Amino acid sequence: MAVIQIRNTGEVIKGEAEVRAFLESQEVLYEYWNPEKLPEALQNECHLNDENKEQVLATFDEEIRSLAERRGYKNWDVIALNEDTPDLDALLKKFEQVHTHTEDEVRAITAGSGTFVIKGEETGYFDVNLSPGDVISVPVNIPHFFTLSEERQVVAVRLFIDAEGWVAHKFDDPDFQKAN
Ligand SMILES: [Fe+2]
Repeated sequence: MAVIQIRNTGEVIKGEAEVRAFLESQEVLYEYWNPEKLPEALQNECHLNDENKEQVLATFDEEIRSLAERRGYKNWDVIALNEDTPDLDALLKKFEQVHTHTEDEVRAITAGSGTFVIKGEETGYFDVNLSPGDVISVPVNIPHFFTLSEERQVVAVRLFIDAEGWVAHKFDDPDFQKAN
């Protein structure tokens, strides 16, 4: 279950009801897809070949199609990052810049972990620490970035309306609060 930390107050929000209520107040979609539905060999496995990625999509086909239908997503894929990913450090550096998109950014974490840092209108930046099963959608035009946690590996299903909409627009923010 996601755990949230508000950067400028240090407040931590955890527990299903609290997390859901906070994210709802920020218009961030939150869902939970049971990661135990995955074949055992793929549970918390972040080194995936193409066939494994298809297995992940097949496992969550119902959840993916339901979400896509509700919110107009047309395409989906699976991304896996781990210590064998070429140029992982450079990639993370690129990720860790505040930016916006002209469509939602949807990620379902199926293995590993990661953090979305999102700018709330009144709360300022908050971290959403995601573990397997957590599904979030960062709303269109909301400044954010994604980073890995200490384990530095993740598998995520991504859903798009149009891959073009997922182009990052850099957001230079003097109010950005770095993590303590
Ligand atoms: Fe993004």
